Amino acid sequence: MIQSANPAAIAQAAQALQAGQLVGLPTETVYGLAANASDDAAVAQIFVAKGRPADHPLIVHVASPEQVPLFAAQVPGFAQRLMQAFWPGPLTLILPRQPGVATASAAGQDSIGLRCPSHPVAQALLQACLLLGVQGLSAPSANRFGRVSPTTAAHVQSELGPDLLILDGGDCEVGIESTIIDCSRGEPVLLRPGQITRAQIAAACGRAVLDKDAPKDVMGQPAPRASGTLESHYAPRARVRLMPALDIAHKLQALGPHANNLGLWSAERPDAGSGVVWRAQPQSAEQAAHDVFSVLRELDARGVTQIWVQLPPDTPEWEGVRDRLQRAAA
Ligand code: TXA
Ligand code: MG
Repeated sequence: MIQSANPAAIAQAAQALQAGQLVGLPTETVYGLAANASDDAAVAQIFVAKGRPADHPLIVHVASPEQVPLFAAQVPGFAQRLMQAFWPGPLTLILPRQPGVATASAAGQDSIGLRCPSHPVAQALLQACLLLGVQGLSAPSANRFGRVSPTTAAHVQSELGPDLLILDGGDCEVGIESTIIDCSRGEPVLLRPGQITRAQIAAACGRAVLDKDAPKDVMGQPAPRASGTLESHYAPRARVRLMPALDIAHKLQALGPHANNLGLWSAERPDAGSGVVWRAQPQSAEQAAHDVFSVLRELDARGVTQIWVQLPPDTPEWEGVRDRLQRAAA
């Protein structure tokens, strides 16, 4: 059930988490499906609810940097600088894991992903959990595995059903998942682009940011697995195709009145009939990130069989949105 995130509902959610239950949680990026990070049986239920493969680790959410040493064995200086610059906020750091903690979340990795969210409801819940002895919340995006991430409480309910307690914190401001930086191998490595750009990361930590497919011999070890980094992910039911604006215009012209059951996310309103459902693609990368998952979800719900998406600009601030679209189209 969806509950407005007032103090009573937050207290109830904290108690449910302490008791080993799952809670749908708003964050500034997307909604998460949360469990007590130190309760392996509760965390195992997340994998079941999502249909997520057992070898895909979860991010542990903490109230503040103070909880980091409980989960991370070691924090390099550059990671410390990233926390100072961007926490609370949409940044996840992969760090060497404290042996024996958050085992189910780590899914076989000897590292742990940590994030301190800025959403006031997430913060309030994490604080309420701390008072009950719950030090961190494991939370993947609250969607079935491989599907589009939820950015409203209603999306979460449509993914995971009516029984789950979901705190309604409004629609998510950022709209795409956190930037993930692997800090476990001596140099910052970008595992997943997000609102915080690689240039911002580099500036804040004073190091060049490596790519996740940096050759093995540069890093010494292969990059860790990350499900958000699978080539095909974020898939709506409809087939997604990414195209330059000009191609969209030409194809629409060729189809003429035969364009049907077609969703379109592009900057310019097309000259097309009622068989085309158009949504405006914002000019700003930030607004586009905010909109992208809810537009895909809405077009899907309208039953279109294809969604044509205008290829966003190839500039750094669009990297996160481009990444999600490329994987929705894969
Ligand atoms: O914005 C977000 O990060 C959202 C909200 C709910 O906080 N969460 C989220 O979780 O996107 P999820 O599970 O959908 O994506 C987490 C990504 C996955 O690709 C996972 O493989 C990676 O983080 N990850 C987590 N722990 C890791 C680890 N120890 N090593 C490598 N990758 C890790
Ligand atoms: Mg996800």
